[in-house]
Amino acid sequence: MKRDLITLLDLSHDEIFLIIKEAARLKKRQKKGISDKPLAGKSVAMIFEKPSTRTRVSFEVGITQLGASPVVLHAGEMQLGRGETVEDTARVLSRYVDGIMIRAYSHQSVAALAKAASIPVINGLTDFAHPCQILSDLFTIYEKKNTIEGITIAYIGDGNNVAHSWIMAADQLDFSLRLGCPEGYTPDPEVLAGAPEGRVAVFHDPKEAVADADVVYTDVWTSMGQEAEKQKRLEAFRGFCVTPALMKGARDNALFMHCLPAHRGEEVAADVIDGKQSIVFDQAENRLHAQKAIMFFLIAEENHT
Ligand code: CP
Ligand code: NVA
Repeated sequence: MKRDLITLLDLSHDEIFLIIKEAARLKKRQKKGISDKPLAGKSVAMIFEKPSTRTRVSFEVGITQLGASPVVLHAGEMQLGRGETVEDTARVLSRYVDGIMIRAYSHQSVAALAKAASIPVINGLTDFAHPCQILSDLFTIYEKKNTIEGITIAYIGDGNNVAHSWIMAADQLDFSLRLGCPEGYTPDPEVLAGAPEGRVAVFHDPKEAVADADVVYTDVWTSMGQEAEKQKRLEAFRGFCVTPALMKGARDNALFMHCLPAHRGEEVAADVIDGKQSIVFDQAENRLHAQKAIMFFLIAEENHT
């Protein structure tokens, strides 16, 4: 049976750790100049409906490093943009390639693509979830702190796709997630309802949210596709910028993380993102290693008919 990664709920607790350990192993081997090619002879399609820097480059480089050929497709240039269904697109691509990574607006479309495809489909971000980002962030935290379970993560900002994936990570792994979101911008109540009792808490005061945090995490206030709301959001999120003063409310050795792209002076102060506690570029690098592990897990062992 082929497996997909559409949300983190597609993986078990043990599989998440398996991928984190594999990411660490692949990273170590790459740093030593050893190249593994477990996807030799295969091809992986990448479909983009939205812009991307990190996902685009880290997937393409990762696919190549694993020995496979990347096929980059811009949704607007495909027949998908002219009325061909996602299901037919999935069936056709399944005859050519061994896996699909897709970044799209609609989560439902990505789920439909995965359902119709006979090959693994990886969600490279939808309006609802960003599982590759959070898996790779879990790897980064594991690398820095040697553990994930037992720690406290404060997510400050919009209850968006990234926040949803953090909540789904907390469904599976035993860490404490404290979300600090303005009223009206809290995560989807159904996603929140899935988290085990006591593991996820929502605050409307960012100072309360960062109390005892080992990691302070933020994301943009205006996600891709929400540009028309930018002004309204700038006002709604006033007071939710991760400043040096806010960081002082977290633990002394707290790390600062951001999935990037960042807007200095909006969701994060330059002094924080460019300061000593920030690990955002190690975090960005780890997209490469974590996604190689995801593809190794989902695609390498697969035999499709
Ligand atoms: N963090 C992230 O997914 O970055 P890109 O939008 O550049 O891919
Ligand atoms: N929430 C952001 C994440 C970007 C990586 C967006 O969807 O635009």
